[in-house]
Amino acid sequence: MTLKFGVVGTGAIGREHIKRITNTLSGGKIVAVTDVNQESAKQTVEQLDLDAVIYPDDKTLVNAEDVDAVLVTSWGPAHEQTVLAAIEAGKYVFCEKPLATTAEGCMRIVEAEIKHGKKLVQVGFMRRYDRGYVQMKEAIDNGLIGEPLMIKAAHRNPTVGETYTTDMAVVDTLIHEIDVLHWLVNEDYQSVQVVYPKKTKYALPHLQDPQLFTIETQGGIVMNVEVFVNCRFGYDIQCEVIGEDGTVTLPEPLSIGFRKDAKLGTNLLMDWKDRFIDAYDVEIQDFMDSIMKTGEPNGPTTWDGYIAAVTTDACVKAQQTGEKEQITFKERPAFYSENTYCKTV
Ligand SMILES: NC(=O)c1ccc[n+]([C@@H]2O[C@H](COP(=O)([O-])OP(=O)(O)OC[C@H]3O[C@@H](n4cnc5c(N)ncnc54)[C@H](O)[C@@H]3O)[C@@H](O)[C@H]2O)c1
Repeated sequence: MTLKFGVVGTGAIGREHIKRITNTLSGGKIVAVTDVNQESAKQTVEQLDLDAVIYPDDKTLVNAEDVDAVLVTSWGPAHEQTVLAAIEAGKYVFCEKPLATTAEGCMRIVEAEIKHGKKLVQVGFMRRYDRGYVQMKEAIDNGLIGEPLMIKAAHRNPTVGETYTTDMAVVDTLIHEIDVLHWLVNEDYQSVQVVYPKKTKYALPHLQDPQLFTIETQGGIVMNVEVFVNCRFGYDIQCEVIGEDGTVTLPEPLSIGFRKDAKLGTNLLMDWKDRFIDAYDVEIQDFMDSIMKTGEPNGPTTWDGYIAAVTTDACVKAQQTGEKEQITFKERPAFYSENTYCKTV
């Protein structure tokens, strides 16, 4: 059986996902696209040689009879409306992060999905499908390092555009750590505090860079996460979990080592798209496979989208106040009681 996708938003990541479903993965087909910029939708169909209908808006696409699953790759503020329409139509949804830009918006999706009665939505937190993070998770769950006590992590980009603002360090960048670290230790967050170290000369005047987030879980694990988006030297993702009996570290991406001119070296990646390219493939393949096998997606849930939204809100507040801000969640509904766990990759 083939899962027939309708795509809402044919920008950068929308096109990447269309290409991987069409050319790399198995079991999916793009049958419909839409974009508020209809020219972008037309160009996508032509340039990627798709046999797909172009719809005028998300509602008509979602309700098209041959669309089984909706790929939501529009701008963040537009996600909630499309996801709610898809749930109402009983369609599966793969929604890029954020699920919605507010915790209230995420709760509306939670309520709609529970009312529908079965899981339809997967959120695009692809790091859970990265081989290195999966191996860390397995090591922690198997007790290799005992109880996790601390995490040191870093999210570094070589540079960012003029439109990147201080809060985007949370809502666009840190959000990936917020999801993956929560998943790694399987504990809800409790508080966050932000410190601004000395500012790099490479940051534009309106941007605080770097930033240090200290996030504490309800069980007392302390996570120190650096976001540094003008580091110049590469796209660099670091993560070390320190436990009672040892530590576990995210492996570096595979790259040749070299010896030359009295130097011993290796290459760093410069583009975020390259760092998690395999993880994007695996997450969407898993979305299709689990729907085919069990009738429900198996990856990050609507509840994970809600956890990320509540935590990003608290982080942005902590940026503004400089104080330790509490992170408070509603009670996890029984509907989302099982923690999602990705298959080994
Ligand atoms: N998981 C990841 O690592 C990752 C990476 C990049 C982007 N993203 C997320 O994916 C989403 C898209 O990012 P992008 O970089 O592709 O942005 P983009 O600006 O390149 O593309 C977004 C597209 O959505 C269209 N659009 C906006 N509102 C719409 C609506 N209501 N209906 C239909 N189309 C609409 C725009 O016209 C545009 O073509 C964002 O939410 C972003 O955070 C996730």
